[in-house]
Amino acid sequence: MATAKMSVRPEDLSHIPQGAERIPEAGIMVIFGASGDLTKRKLLPALFHLEQVGLLPKNFTILGVARRPLGDEFAADMRAGIVEFGDVDVSDPKLNDFVERIAYFPLRFDVPDDYAGLKTELDRIDKEKNLGGHRLFYLATAPEFFAGIIENLGAQNMAQPEHGQVGVVIEKPFGHDLESARELNRQVNAVFHESQVFRIDHYLGKETVQNILVFRFANGIFEPVWNRNYIDHVQITAAETLGVEGRGPFYEKAGALRDVVQNHMMELLSFVAMEPPSSFDAEAVRREKVKVWRAIPPVPIKDAVRGQYGPGIVEGKRAAGYRDEERVNPESGTETFAALRLEIENWRWAGVPFYLRAGKRLKRRATEISIQFKQPPLLIFNRMASQAACQEIQPNLLTIRIQPDEGISLRFGAKVPTTPNMDVCPVIMDFDYEAAFGKSSANGYERLLLDAMLGDQTLFSHRDGVEINWALYTPIIEAWAAKMPEVFPNYFAGTWGPECSDHLLERWGHKWRNDLGRKA
Ligand code: BG6
Repeated sequence: MATAKMSVRPEDLSHIPQGAERIPEAGIMVIFGASGDLTKRKLLPALFHLEQVGLLPKNFTILGVARRPLGDEFAADMRAGIVEFGDVDVSDPKLNDFVERIAYFPLRFDVPDDYAGLKTELDRIDKEKNLGGHRLFYLATAPEFFAGIIENLGAQNMAQPEHGQVGVVIEKPFGHDLESARELNRQVNAVFHESQVFRIDHYLGKETVQNILVFRFANGIFEPVWNRNYIDHVQITAAETLGVEGRGPFYEKAGALRDVVQNHMMELLSFVAMEPPSSFDAEAVRREKVKVWRAIPPVPIKDAVRGQYGPGIVEGKRAAGYRDEERVNPESGTETFAALRLEIENWRWAGVPFYLRAGKRLKRRATEISIQFKQPPLLIFNRMASQAACQEIQPNLLTIRIQPDEGISLRFGAKVPTTPNMDVCPVIMDFDYEAAFGKSSANGYERLLLDAMLGDQTLFSHRDGVEINWALYTPIIEAWAAKMPEVFPNYFAGTWGPECSDHLLERWGHKWRNDLGRKA
């Protein structure tokens, strides 16, 4: 298929301000569960990237908190993480100074006295570095500790101090069903005001996800066709080649629906489907997202299918089946793949199916949104086309590649030159992020951490949104839990998932796009 490239002219970038107005006030970030992978793989590299581009305040301090009695080795471990996962040169001149600002405090999450010690330590650091009482608590622990940590912060008056801005960032999963999410929201809001709460979904930190809104609302030509009159259906795929990577106990309780579909994929869907907000402020954006989610009727159980991988070959290497993974029940009924069809009952979308699919150990890593447009009403060239020169006329397809090969492409038909017939071939117009703007080592957390420090909640979930999404998925989760799947595992690692996923779309006359990725 022929491809046309699009690029950015340097003069178009020269007027973009470099963000000096977005430097937060000096403060401290307290990371609970700091000895876990997330801190060194994602959070610290992201903070260091912010430092590199001058977006961190001068005295900004990081305090890692976890149960283990660690000392200086914590900062050394974080340094190694920044270099390895942040793609940072060990000799970066800013690295040593940054690492000196990392400290560690051992704390048992369920021991109230330990929080009194933490408060004393925070006050000491605050005084020494003149941080004005600004604090951001980041909960990166296992989810069962969230409520207890929040309660203890409240009990020690750390949530509503006399001076400074205080916020709390809460990692996913936020609850495990509707009831537990409601309970957690109640516990959080008993201590923190909603304006202090940042429920994080790292997908919203990805440039390509934010770009969905820019694509739709900073351009005039797409909105008029962005509706049921022109769009046939939408597919959203989040395919991973990775397995559970040693997270067996977590994943056994989560499964694909809770881990990725209920949160990341629903965020993607809301950006594709929402009405234009009146502005890009938190309230306006969240209001429109919630309207989309509320307009989704319950998903009939036959329109949701699940899968679990067996052994197979992924990217040329042998991969074990899910049941053989470390610390996974050998008879596990947990789904590592989920696909479903849903509709959005509003004037823009009524009758347009949205298909969602997410899975581990699939054929290729690709998170993509495909907007398939309707065929033209009359295919006048079809009759004349010589079969040899062209394929069947294909409908226009807009593809938003969230990752990897980040970009956007539009497929349309073009006349094949030199043949005597009106032969039509699909061609692709492609925008490639890296080619246009250069390679980025950002991992998505940079933007969200900075926003949280600045108190900007636009890219974070609100309590209503979390509960609406759990309300949609809890009946499916319960139905699946009540009935063990008959044939598990039902797909080989390294394929596009179980047959029931293909059948789901076939029932509606559709087919999954499996040619995902620009290099596919
Ligand atoms: C996390 C899930 O939220 O997202 C993981 O818990 C998943 O299971 C990950 O692998 C995917 O994120 P990304 O940014 O690699 O697509």
